[in-house]
Formats: sequence, structure tokens, C-alpha cells
Amino acid sequence: MNCMTALQTPRLTLRPFSEDDLDDLSALMASTDFMRFSLGVFSREQTAGFLEKVRGRDREGLPSQFALVFRPEQKLIGYCGFFLQTVDEMEELEIAYRLDSSYWSRGLATEAARAVCDHAFDDLQLSRVISLIHPDNIASRRVAEKNGMIPEKETVFRGFPAIVFGIKREQRNGR
Ligand SMILES: CC(C)(COP(=O)(O)OP(=O)(O)OC[C@H]1O[C@@H](n2cnc3c(N)ncnc32)[C@H](O)[C@@H]1OP(=O)(O)O)[C@@H](O)C(=O)NCCC(=O)NCCS
Repeated sequence: MNCMTALQTPRLTLRPFSEDDLDDLSALMASTDFMRFSLGVFSREQTAGFLEKVRGRDREGLPSQFALVFRPEQKLIGYCGFFLQTVDEMEELEIAYRLDSSYWSRGLATEAARAVCDHAFDDLQLSRVISLIHPDNIASRRVAEKNGMIPEKETVFRGFPAIVFGIKREQRNGR
């Protein structure tokens, strides 16, 4: 299975982004809720740049972000997938996620993050993945914990405090 295969969970389809997602993704990335714990909202132009970066990784067959489609409504409600990050001078693959706030607290981010973590270990044969989370981001911390991730250390990432949550392939049976 390659990086661009779609994943299914009970309520979500995780599929590669397409050019046609620009309108919907721009609306999401213009929302302060969606962009909480980031540098701020994105203009349409910034979203186009983000989309191009994500699609460029897809084209190269590298682990990338999936579009989250809420299947009952066939609606794009966010993203979940991989960013390549340098943390304390080490390259790491981060599982990151953002959801439309109308869909928060229904377990959807957990559902998506678990599917992406399984994909990392089962399909991509990665040995470890992390999530980088601001200490005040309680909801995101819960998603990482429910995904079996362990808080390893605090660091400063791009000028902000961040907890490095990690999971290795051999630790995942405990979740
Ligand atoms: C973080 C985010 C993706 C979580 O999505 P979600 O679908 O609501 O997550 P889930 O429903 O799977 O789980 C959320 C957990 O956090 C808890 N939670 C939600 N909001 C909370 C809050 N304000 N304070 C404390 N806990 C909260 C929920 O109760 C749930 O935990 P539980 O299962 O133990 O009850 C969503 O809030 C979001 O998009 N936030 C903005 C972007 C962001 O912060 N992304 C992460 C960057 S590291």
C-alpha cells in the first residue's frame, strides 16, 4: 500500500487532497477555531500554498496529510496526517489534525488519528511517530493519549512550548 491510499474509519474517509478542495479548505483555514494553537488564520492564498505542499508530498509518495471527509454528509471537515518536522535537531514524522469546530467532541479526531497511526505502522512500516502539542491544548492531548501516545518531554517548537508525545511500533499493543 502506498502513502496515497484512502483510509476508512466507521464515520470518516481519509483521502488524498485534490485541487478541488481549495474552496472548502480555505473556509476551514480562515476560521479561528480551526486554526487554534497555530500562528493564526490563513488567507486563501496561504491555504493554496499549504494545499500545494501537501499535494507535492503525495506526488512524491511521501507521508502527507489526508482530507477528512465525514461520510454521512460527504463533507470535508478537516485534515489528519503527517508533517515532517525537525524537533530538537531530529527529523520526526508528526501526526497532526484539525477539525471543523461543528464536529468537535464526537470522537472524530481520535478516530482519524488512530487510523493514521495504524497506517504508519502497518502500511508504511514506520518505527515511530510523534505529536507536538501545546501544553494548554487539552483536547489535542486527550486525542494523543487515546491514540496510545506517551508524553516524552517538553520542548520549544517554532518559539512555542510543546509536549512531544511519541509512540513506537512496539508500544502500540498497549492502546
Ligand atoms: C484537537 C481537536 C482536533 C480535537 O478534535 P475532537 O474531534 O473534538 O476530538 P475527540 O472528540 O476525538 O476527543 C477530544 C477529547 O478532548 C476532550 N476535550 C474537548 N475539548 C476540551 C476542552 N476544551 N477541555 C478539555 N477537554 C476537552 C474531549 O472530552 C475528548 O476527551 P474524552 O474522550 O476523554 O472525553 C479539535 O479540538 C481541533 O481541531 N482543535 C483546533 C486545532 C488543534 O488544536 N489541533 C491540534 C494541534 S496539536
